[in-house]
Amino acid sequence: MKKVMMFLCVLSLFGVPCTAGAQEESNESGTIYLPKPDTKTGMPLMQALQNRQTHREFSVRKISDQNMSEILWAANGVNRENGKRTIPTARDSRDLKVYVIRQGGAFFYDPENNTLTSVNPSALIYAAAMQDYVKQADALLVFVSNNKNHEYGAMHAGSAYQNVGLYAASVGLNNVVLGSIDKDLLHKELNLKDDEYVVIAQALGWPKTK
Ligand SMILES: Cc1cc2nc3c(=O)[nH]c(=O)nc-3n(C[C@H](O)[C@H](O)[C@H](O)COP(=O)(O)O)c2cc1C
Repeated sequence: MKKVMMFLCVLSLFGVPCTAGAQEESNESGTIYLPKPDTKTGMPLMQALQNRQTHREFSVRKISDQNMSEILWAANGVNRENGKRTIPTARDSRDLKVYVIRQGGAFFYDPENNTLTSVNPSALIYAAAMQDYVKQADALLVFVSNNKNHEYGAMHAGSAYQNVGLYAASVGLNNVVLGSIDKDLLHKELNLKDDEYVVIAQALGWPKTK
């Protein structure tokens, strides 16, 4: 398998992404091992702030595993040896959970292991989105909390979607924060526990080339 991965990654030098190999390797164990996020990528923060905005148009281009790893790291990744995250949480509760829904199904992001675990093989993005344009997005992040204080749960999700929005701006991805989602459907299909609740979602994809 390593040889296959190396071959695919050599191909990537010629513009062919090596993500297919990574996905293939992951399917054997049911877990997708994301590449390490590149913390040197993107543009300076002030330029990203200047560029941050909502875009509701997406092309068919797929988000690579590398970009997905960086999106998720921005949302809720571990950024210190002590396990703390890229977002602050009240009393260091670390209650935020991030799910990714794509064509291949729904996945749970494990920040400690930098992995995605399948929680539902169906492409829920179509059912969960209440606005038609969202169906063109390559990925839908769903922010979930079990914080008893729902205000804190919402603030934690807000920190995550803002981090993702700034990352998206810095690499040229389009994104939109989505309150209009079917939260009950997501709760059921993501197999969430009774004390967990869907706070908000965020759609992501590459812009259409002009
Ligand atoms: C909490 C929240 C919920 C939102 N829900 C939706 C939504 O359901 N559908 C949508 O198209 N945009 C949604 N948006 C995006 C806003 O419409 C958008 O941020 C606003 O128009 C300002 O545009 P800007 O992000 O380009 O500054 C939401 C934004 C936030 C912060």
